Amino acid sequence: MQNKIGVIIAAAGKGTRMGSEVPKQFMSISGIPMIAKTYKAFAKSQLVDKIFIVTNEEYMETCKDLVMSCTSFDERKKMGAIIQGGDSRQDSVYRGLKAIKNLDNSFTHVLVHDGARPFVSEDVINRTISRTIETGAAVACVKPKDTIRTRERTLDRGQLLHVQTPQGFDIGLLIESYEKATINRLEGTDDASLVEALGYRVAIVEGDYGNYKVTTPEDIPKTMGVGHGYDVHRLVEGRRLILGGVNIPHEKGLLGHSDADVLTHALMDALLGGSNMGDIGKLFPDTDIKYKDISSMELLRNVGLKLSRKGVTISNVDITVMAQRPKISGYIEAMKKNIAAALGIFPYQVNIKGTTTEKLGFVGREEGIAAEAVCLLNL
Ligand code: CTP
Ligand code: MG
Repeated sequence: MQNKIGVIIAAAGKGTRMGSEVPKQFMSISGIPMIAKTYKAFAKSQLVDKIFIVTNEEYMETCKDLVMSCTSFDERKKMGAIIQGGDSRQDSVYRGLKAIKNLDNSFTHVLVHDGARPFVSEDVINRTISRTIETGAAVACVKPKDTIRTRERTLDRGQLLHVQTPQGFDIGLLIESYEKATINRLEGTDDASLVEALGYRVAIVEGDYGNYKVTTPEDIPKTMGVGHGYDVHRLVEGRRLILGGVNIPHEKGLLGHSDADVLTHALMDALLGGSNMGDIGKLFPDTDIKYKDISSMELLRNVGLKLSRKGVTISNVDITVMAQRPKISGYIEAMKKNIAAALGIFPYQVNIKGTTTEKLGFVGREEGIAAEAVCLLNL
């Protein structure tokens, strides 16, 4: 008989330990929803025939949409069904198993995997499937890196394993194990333990340290965001020249609705851009009387607050001011201090440099001053 492999992705948990707004399986991880990333890992394997996702009742539609919108045509072809989960992982997987059996009786083996393990590799998947076909039951494990002890004594690390998923089984064996566990009111935190309770030996397959379960906020890989901003203001008589919050003596100043601090405006746009929050035009419209002649340092403080409310921190910012005159080098330290204070960062995280444009263009003709800024953000 030819082997037919079904995969159950258990994704019906609440993610209590993560403490996020949506259950962790729907959070974005490296730019893609965790559940879609997990699905794609299995869809890629040549050995996998169909994938069934068990998820929370109220997220069944969302789950389907997320997976459908993040997958290729070939990956989508492997979608089996979205199945409503239960109160415990065991309950959810059992519901998945029963649904598969009802939908299609021809599966020979089933792999169970946590939706919260999006980093599973194709190698681990294929190794587990091969061993499952050979032995009827196989589980991916890794050796602990830390010494493990009970409160009373240190355990022999050589004897211990961290249990991961996927865990693969002959489908009949797994169904029988779940039936028996239900009758005997046996609760296990994984599938292999239920199979072993029947007296069946489960083979150990080499897992992968990268295949960890995303459980608490530290488990979410950090991502960076790069931001870029550009601004120009016209130089006119009768206005003060303010750059980086410093009033620079000059015969002309910059024209604008606010104090026209072009350097700070470019910086704000970089910060808003890098954190995907639009731009200053959207945030502080110049049609709003509230912002007339307002200090750009105040606006910058506001942008800094918006970033920190989103949990975004600043790694560094780098700003270039293009001005034919005046020379700004003598004011840079004061500007760095102002900007760092407004953003709640250190002056060494702020770099400012000035350049002329060799008398070329509008900057060279001293008609205006331009500024560009880039920043690196921890999202
Ligand atoms: N799971 C499930 N159904 C449940 C509980 C858990 O399908 N009723 C799934 C989770 O979605 C997860 C996997 O089982 O992919 C492993 O569980 P765990 O890491 O404990 O996830 P949660 O139960 O969601 O998290 P927590 O225990 O912190 O609430
Ligand atoms: Mg749990």
